Amino acid sequence: MKTLIWFTAIILISVMAACSYGPDSTKGFSLPAGNEATGEKVFMKYQCQACHSLKGYADDSLIKEFDTPIPLGGTSSMVKTYAQLVTSVINPSHKLAPRSRYIDEKITNEDGSSKMRVFNDVMTVQELIDLVAFLQPKYKVEPITYTHYGQYRML
Ligand code: HEC
Repeated sequence: MKTLIWFTAIILISVMAACSYGPDSTKGFSLPAGNEATGEKVFMKYQCQACHSLKGYADDSLIKEFDTPIPLGGTSSMVKTYAQLVTSVINPSHKLAPRSRYIDEKITNEDGSSKMRVFNDVMTVQELIDLVAFLQPKYKVEPITYTHYGQYRML
């Protein structure tokens, strides 16, 4: 019995260690704090509402790409962490949310990639930082620990 407990404990510890320190781990991921007001402008500038809806941000002047805009923010979205939020902006096809099942429209291309536009060639890193600062409070995502300047240490 004792051996079994030890065995289970060792397996558990190695799994947990693998999760937090593996090469794919988000540990050590940190962006500087962004500016929400500027982020709001970035959201408008890149016309995210052409495909998305966000509470309080309707823009009827845009040509809508989907009949049912994909909602951003709230608690029901697939984005659960800060890292996922950043990822969904810079790498939209990464782990596409299975929401496609209840959105009738096709939100992926033939090759399975997301129909979301990739802004990586046009959006500056600062814009991304501010955009995420603006979007994050709309989600109930866990805030990240920002870099504390002066006491920065590797990972
Ligand atoms: C051409 C249409 C299109 C545009 C423009 C677009 N998106 Fe998307 N976006 C999508 C699609 C399609 C998805 C995938 C939905 C899914 O399956 O998760 C998505 C997903 C997302 C998600 C994850 C959804 C969630 O809450 O779980 C975020 C965040 C997001 N987009 C942010 C943005 C931001 C910010 C902009 C503007 C800079 C933008 N999108 C512009 C189509 C678009």
